[in-house]
Amino acid sequence: MKLLLLGATGLVGRHVLELALADPRVTAVIAPSRRPLPERPRLAAPIVDFSALPQDPSIWAADAVICALGTTLKQAGSRERFRPVDHDYVLDIARLAKANGARTFVLNSAKGADVSSVFFYSRVKGETERDIAALGYESTVLVRPGLIDGARAEPRPLEAWAGRVLSLLKPVLPRSARANPPEAIARAMLEAACSAKPGLTVVASQDLL
Ligand SMILES: NC(=O)c1ccc[n+]([C@@H]2O[C@H](COP(=O)([O-])OP(=O)(O)OC[C@H]3O[C@@H](n4cnc5c(N)ncnc54)[C@H](OP(=O)(O)O)[C@@H]3O)[C@@H](O)[C@H]2O)c1
Repeated sequence: MKLLLLGATGLVGRHVLELALADPRVTAVIAPSRRPLPERPRLAAPIVDFSALPQDPSIWAADAVICALGTTLKQAGSRERFRPVDHDYVLDIARLAKANGARTFVLNSAKGADVSSVFFYSRVKGETERDIAALGYESTVLVRPGLIDGARAEPRPLEAWAGRVLSLLKPVLPRSARANPPEAIARAMLEAACSAKPGLTVVASQDLL
């Protein structure tokens, strides 16, 4: 399977990349990024401008797509700058990949994603899910983690604090309320990409532990 991976420099994407490069089912990984990735066998990592995606089929032709792209409201600086990354870039890539033959799309979405949510973040995630599902991939998988608890290059104090609290409370918390390790999310997404289950599948946070 040839895999197109978006967000390979991020917390979840990095784990997907490591798993994919070690997986004999994956023959090649294309990971378009805005920052260079170290050279690895079976990896192509073209630098692209996500606001003006190149149309070159050699970048987008793959069997399956895993998308772990995303920003935060704080990083983006405003709602107007958040939405293009978490919605428009994802949709543009999904259309290009489908036009170039991809049959499976696995989206790292978020718990609570809902087009009717009162929360802007959850509403955008819901709109992205809805619009990806409408593209009609043979296999669409929406993976919905809660808080992602892992070591980040750039600290996010609030997420780190919430992660510590959830970790302390883990023994008494229901599975659905626990933080999700990036390794578990990455494993679930790679399995979904390889198995290519027909139709629409939603993977909830309690299944990402
Ligand atoms: N953090 C949480 O607790 C949480 C919870 C639920 C769902 N999620 C969602 O899960 C997904 C993965 O999360 P994560 O924590 O792994 O994210 P992350 O570590 O912040 O990584 C995000 C990825 O998206 C890329 N990216 C961000 N802004 C971009 C832009 N303007 N243009 C091009 N690429 C851009 C980053 O590239 P650079 O490395 O170049 O910045 C990176 O590869 C995201 O969609 C996030 O919304 C997160």
